[in-house]
Amino acid sequence: MGMAKERVPRKFRLRRIKDLSMNQLVQHYALYKGYIKKMNEIRQDMRGLTKEDFAAANNTYSKVRCIKQAETYAVNGVKLHELYFENLGGADTKPGGKILQLIKRDFGSYERWKDFFKACGKASRGWVIMAYDPFDSHLHLYTGDRHNQGGVWQVIPLLVLDVYEHAYMIDFGINRAKYLDVFMENIDWDVVNKRLALYVYD
Ligand SMILES: [Fe+2]
Repeated sequence: MGMAKERVPRKFRLRRIKDLSMNQLVQHYALYKGYIKKMNEIRQDMRGLTKEDFAAANNTYSKVRCIKQAETYAVNGVKLHELYFENLGGADTKPGGKILQLIKRDFGSYERWKDFFKACGKASRGWVIMAYDPFDSHLHLYTGDRHNQGGVWQVIPLLVLDVYEHAYMIDFGINRAKYLDVFMENIDWDVVNKRLALYVYD
């Protein structure tokens, strides 16, 4: 039937990250595994939808509506966390390469981009995503208050930041600004450049 395969959690090298505890990372990773579990469950349940369920579809309340809303929440929850864990930490935490050129081109300077990115981290209730959009060949910063809100179609996510409280509360309490500072110093720019290279050739 061409249904998506059952997925298993990706294993990340949860590297020791300067100023971010292993406990914080491990607990966050456990939440990510929960999204995988629910994504698989939703897809399994989708196979069980009946002709009657399709006939009863309704945009106030129906089985199809519930399952479709849950699906985008879970799938984006999985994807965004995988991108986040992958671009966090690593050896190459100094911005450079092609991505730095594009940041300067599209945001004026690295400093302005950094201030803007951190400001988005304070303005968002869930996610900040720096993405490349082939639509206008530019970088953009987008924010989402939930996994399935605020996203823009067709863009390539390059750098993903989780600002849900569960991402930093263990280490920093309600001090999100401190977490944002730590995140900015622990971006794996090599990963970001590799993502960019998959789509931008010039
Ligand atoms: Fe998270």
